[in-house]
Amino acid sequence: MLKESEKYMYGVFEIDSEHSELIARAEKLMASYQNGEAEAEILKLFEYLSAYVLVHFRNEEKLLGDYGYPELDAHKELHREFKQDVMNLQDDIKENGLTLNSRLKLTHLTTEWIDHHIGTEDKKIANFILNIRKG
Ligand SMILES: [Fe+2]
Ligand SMILES: [Fe+2]
Repeated sequence: MLKESEKYMYGVFEIDSEHSELIARAEKLMASYQNGEAEAEILKLFEYLSAYVLVHFRNEEKLLGDYGYPELDAHKELHREFKQDVMNLQDDIKENGLTLNSRLKLTHLTTEWIDHHIGTEDKKIANFILNIRKG
């Protein structure tokens, strides 16, 4: 699923390039804990991914604002909820270590986000932008 990153490329360069970076970082993270790397290494990669998530959300929201995307507030809300989930999970891992539960959450959060948010919500915004550019 993560491997097929081309299916998340929609033809809007600004978004596609950041999504492919996000997917690459997510893949590194998944590989690290599937390979049983040390907890510190996994946490480092999780932070490396989260930091880029923040940059990407800012840029994507700015782009949507520039294009007058009508559902910008709803999209921002999805980003806000995701950031909150990530922060909660980071706190949980810092406090309790990498438990089975937090590993499952980490996998779920990462794959759900890519499949659902990038695969559905960001696809809508890419289509919106493509239509304006074509017009
Ligand atoms: Fe988004
Ligand atoms: Fe996005």
